[in-house]
Amino acid sequence: MCGIVGLVGRGEAAPRILDALRRLEYRGYDSAGIATLVDGRIDRRRAEGKLFNLANVLGADPLPGSLGIGHTRWATHGAPTERNAHPHGTARVAVVHNGIIENHAELKRELQALGQVFETETDTETFARLMDQLLQEGSTPEQAAAAALKRVHGAFALAMIFAGHPNLLICARQGAPLAVGFGEGEMFVGSDALALAPLTRQIAYLEEGDWAVLDDRSARFFDVADRPVERQVRLTAVSGAATGKGNYRHFMEKELHEHPVVLGDTLTQYLEPTSRRVTLPPLPFDPVTVPRLTMTACGSAFLAAMVGRYWIERLARIPVDADVASEFRYRDPPLADGGAAILVSQSGETADTMAALRLLREHRQKVLSVVNVAESSMARESDATVLTVAGPEIGVASTKAFTAQLAVLACIAIGLGRARGHVSATDEAKLTMALLELPSNAALVLDQDAEIRAMADEVAKARDVMFLGRGTLFPIAMEGALKLKEISYIHAEGYAAGEMKHGPIALIDGAVPVISLCPSGPLFEKTASNLQEAAARGGRIMAFTDDLGAERLSAFAERVVVLPRVGAFAAPVLHAIAVQLLAYQVAVLKGGDVDQPRNLAKSVTVE
Ligand code: F6R
Repeated sequence: MCGIVGLVGRGEAAPRILDALRRLEYRGYDSAGIATLVDGRIDRRRAEGKLFNLANVLGADPLPGSLGIGHTRWATHGAPTERNAHPHGTARVAVVHNGIIENHAELKRELQALGQVFETETDTETFARLMDQLLQEGSTPEQAAAAALKRVHGAFALAMIFAGHPNLLICARQGAPLAVGFGEGEMFVGSDALALAPLTRQIAYLEEGDWAVLDDRSARFFDVADRPVERQVRLTAVSGAATGKGNYRHFMEKELHEHPVVLGDTLTQYLEPTSRRVTLPPLPFDPVTVPRLTMTACGSAFLAAMVGRYWIERLARIPVDADVASEFRYRDPPLADGGAAILVSQSGETADTMAALRLLREHRQKVLSVVNVAESSMARESDATVLTVAGPEIGVASTKAFTAQLAVLACIAIGLGRARGHVSATDEAKLTMALLELPSNAALVLDQDAEIRAMADEVAKARDVMFLGRGTLFPIAMEGALKLKEISYIHAEGYAAGEMKHGPIALIDGAVPVISLCPSGPLFEKTASNLQEAAARGGRIMAFTDDLGAERLSAFAERVVVLPRVGAFAAPVLHAIAVQLLAYQVAVLKGGDVDQPRNLAKSVTVE
């Protein structure tokens, strides 16, 4: 969480830092700020809330200077006020920070005893005052940075500038991503390559524990032991071009409408349409001998992993454990010798999933990651990566990246099943055909906009909503509930349909919409019975189904949205799009901030 940017070079820094922060606003939007060096002195502008507030402040009171740092905040320590907005610092140093400095309380006490007076409740100010103290005691900025970085614990990315040093920017990374960009007579630093995309595509990533000293022409990198190191400069594939909203009202709407293209682009990477075979990149484990797989991720990515678990167990007959990363890492699970793991993440930076990755590797598990950002920390630290080809996802609520994850996991399940002899060539042809038809079927789901909008009209009035599904539709029911909570702030639960009678049925009354994901197929009758149980208790039944299911459900459901009939394998992907669209419609009706819902951030780089 939080996005940081820095620039040392030519021309006005503040407008370009502000522009780069716009591409990082998905990481947090509680407050924002920029500091520059003006005539050798540090000056700053800050504002509570979203970036446009900072833009207004800068419009009224511009900030000159060609060296600067900027920050967009997702508050961890201290309320989201202007006072707690970054950059923090003193007359000597200004600091922006993403992450958490865990030992801030003890450092603060030590610094207060030395006479430092704190102005904010942030953990970041501790680092700034520690730097100030070292500078006061005679250290150079480099010496101070080297010493201060050894005193702080936690996960962070930092960038700082110094009074009297118009050509110096120091940055550091431990547990949070940071990229250094190389320009023509200018150097940049940013939380990701997307932030720097219009400025440069020549990027070097800091590795764990690295810090770097930048001037307008070069970067010197040091490792955790302060040894000078080389870090590879690569041409990033990330482009700033694809980040506009086009004619859509929200990024989320645009991203929902990108489903057909994204599914097509992702599937064609891993499916050969003429032979109808799956073609995966080399896996880091032997699918025939692997005794067990661990799947872990957070939020929606975890729900995609749950669907993947159903598919892999069914098609490849490999036992799979699926756990949210924040639980997995502290559960101390016994991991089989020769075991492997599949991690799922859009950003490839989520702190809990990254921690799980490192734990898995410590336990000699081979790690395959399904990520959307090829240059992410997760992609770089995994044994192998299968990319989703979703393009940048800006809306905080994941949509197209989620279905792209499903598409990749479906291909992995088929590939593993074939390698283990459980999926015949004929089965493979049928399964891949169902996947290859997903892009056109996704477009048909989007065409149900008006029907879904009619359902949304009802759902928007509810205080509580229940989503039900069975099998692979159970995680999608949870995805529907998660999306609704996230962007419309309506309380929602996603339940396994068969589990409802063991408790949640007590909640059913005429005010609670029960939205079932109920395509025709082997589990249809069972789910339909559960729905009738709810209807018998006055529940308001609404359903996503297909033409066959609609005949039966229309008898007692208040609303039925008919999706393409695609068979059990592809159904979760289409239902995911439908519930995402529903959540979007409800959020628009309720007038919420669809792309930047309260309290959330897109890339969760704190535990
Ligand atoms: C929900 C959502 C989040 C993310 C989660 C993991 O709409 O977007 O739940 O899925 O924060 O993020 P990644 O996939 O970047 O690891």
